[in-house]
Amino acid sequence: MRRFFDGPIVLSGAIASGDAVLAAQAAGADLAYIGTRFLATPEASVPERYKEEILRAAAADIVYTDLFSGVHGNYLKHSVVAAGFDPLNLPKSDPNKMNFGTAGGAEKKVWRDIWSAGQGVGQIDAVVPVAQVVAKLEAEYAAARRRLQMN
Ligand SMILES: Cc1cc2nc3c(=O)[nH]c(=O)nc-3n(C[C@H](O)[C@H](O)[C@H](O)COP(=O)(O)O)c2cc1C
Repeated sequence: MRRFFDGPIVLSGAIASGDAVLAAQAAGADLAYIGTRFLATPEASVPERYKEEILRAAAADIVYTDLFSGVHGNYLKHSVVAAGFDPLNLPKSDPNKMNFGTAGGAEKKVWRDIWSAGQGVGQIDAVVPVAQVVAKLEAEYAAARRRLQMN
């Protein structure tokens, strides 16, 4: 991307540790963007069951499909099953349709009933306040720098 873009580059996806933030920088990104990690915090206004699923899930529990909204996204397998779908045998979506309301023609609504999460879920094992998540990211980042003898 640097060959054709000299503005800020943000890298995201499965970043859930300070080590990974440093790796993003090493790969040439200016910023690391973290989504899923912040779902497992008291501040996140998602249902408690959603947070529990985040703690339980591993990368293999993430389903990548365009069925629910018309654009591809990652979802927690258990919420897909709970909505009445077989994650191994999802119907094909209509590529001309984007629908952020009902999910794949079901009564369920995407994001309210079918829950997004990225493959980094396996690294998340506790619901802790955002300030603690950030402090841990910072400590891990500093430790990774020390390990690589960067000062
Ligand atoms: C609840 C939730 C909703 C999301 N909604 C969208 C979305 O509408 N469009 C999109 O491009 N990505 C969406 N994402 C994916 C984020 O962009 C993704 O989380 C980001 O790339 C960071 O990756 P990470 O979650 O592995 O940290 C969503 C992610 C979550 C957790």
